[in-house]
Amino acid sequence: MSQPLRLGIAGLGTVGVGVVKIIRQHAAMLTARTGRDISISAVSARSKDKDRGVPLSGYAWEDDPVALATRDDVDVFVELMGGSDGPAKAATEAAIAAGKHVITANKAMLAMHGQALAEAAETAKVSLRYEAAVCGGIPVIKALTEGLAGNDITRVMGVMNGSCNYILTRMEDSGLNYQEIFAEADGLGYLEADPQLDVGGIDAAHKLAILSSIAFGTKVDFDGITLEGIERVSIEDITAAADMGYKIKLLGVAQMTGRGLEQRMQPCLVPASSPLGQLQGGTNMVVIEGDSIEQVVLRGPGAGMGPTASAVMADVCDIARGLSIPVFGVPADTLTTSQPAVSTAPAPYYLRMGLVDKPGALAKIATVLGEAGVSIDRMRQYGHANTAAPVLIVTHKAASASIENALQAMETTGVLAGAPVALRIEEL
Ligand code: NAP
Ligand code: HSE
Repeated sequence: MSQPLRLGIAGLGTVGVGVVKIIRQHAAMLTARTGRDISISAVSARSKDKDRGVPLSGYAWEDDPVALATRDDVDVFVELMGGSDGPAKAATEAAIAAGKHVITANKAMLAMHGQALAEAAETAKVSLRYEAAVCGGIPVIKALTEGLAGNDITRVMGVMNGSCNYILTRMEDSGLNYQEIFAEADGLGYLEADPQLDVGGIDAAHKLAILSSIAFGTKVDFDGITLEGIERVSIEDITAAADMGYKIKLLGVAQMTGRGLEQRMQPCLVPASSPLGQLQGGTNMVVIEGDSIEQVVLRGPGAGMGPTASAVMADVCDIARGLSIPVFGVPADTLTTSQPAVSTAPAPYYLRMGLVDKPGALAKIATVLGEAGVSIDRMRQYGHANTAAPVLIVTHKAASASIENALQAMETTGVLAGAPVALRIEEL
């Protein structure tokens, strides 16, 4: 039997406690699978006295995560504190400098500092692994770096934030508006301490930036993502989209195009009958397309103690087995700097507007769209009790610039009652 693999775990919250539990419950199974005992040497958190529901007295305690990360009896530093900078980054850097392997669930840190950390880890010849950072329990990092390594990846997309999917599907089911369901999700503890990370799309964009880097061999480029959260998704749009056969999802899409690397995280319509359209509640889904595989769909729990700790343990097992691959799939010093795409690929759009109910109003809108080069695929006007007629239009594929031009021109027609809504329809 080889030497035990000794962990130092910083962060004993949801994920950290989950990892301690798995190591305690499945010690024999982990040894059988890796050929090594997996042990915990030391732990760290802010409060030493908090009851965390697991026995911790057998592990040394460190107040300072940096001290934990550099202990002689730690082979792998497991960073489960969170935060893109601060102690998480300082301790990760210290661990790498001390020749320790690092496992982290921290997508914010990787999205901001992934390139520098990867270069440091590869120079120090240690592993930096992060299966838990993207879509919790779904083994998507392994899928991209290993299972699909023989593919030229053409597109990665998916629903990568469970809280947003919970809010959107609860709005659909209940007919309640965004503010009411946001309050419900917050009350249930589903949102990050800073909810803007979830509903602003930032958390999901962190994950997309990491997947993009692996998929396309490019440096992580969070700033290159076109980002819009779900705060402006209204119950009216959810209901109208359903009527036209669609669901609204906070959808991340990354694809390499002739115009550069297109990375988007924004509310989109997807066909209601598609796997993404049927995704309910806090579940995540990632769709990966490659030249040989065509399409792979991964679906599973994107958060929570068990699923996220499960992903951390996958990394622990790989390190115990001696498996070593570059942090983002290819050596960090060969990752290229991506050019963000100047425009997005043409797509059909959903337009919702209120029109003053007088002769020629609809004709004016149709003319504006035609002049902007936007062709109408389907249109529906609803009965109404007040003076504004609700109108839905689904366009044929159009450039986003054409849609923007049309929306601007509509403002001058004098037939709009309120601002129109435009949402991209993603073809799957
Ligand atoms: P959490 O429940 O808030 O736990 C954070 C832990 O870190 C706590 O134990 C806290 O100590 C400790 N901590 C914070 N600052 C510290 C410091 N300066 N020094 C020492 N310890 C410190 O967070 P979590 O949900 O487990 O998330 C941990 C990481 O996993 C984050 O990067 C998160 O984004 C990622 N992640 C979480 C999930 C999930 O479902 N929760 C899913 C995927 C990824 P105290 O307990 O004493 O306050
Ligand atoms: N807030 C995140 C989510 C947690 O809802 O998906 C997992 O990263």
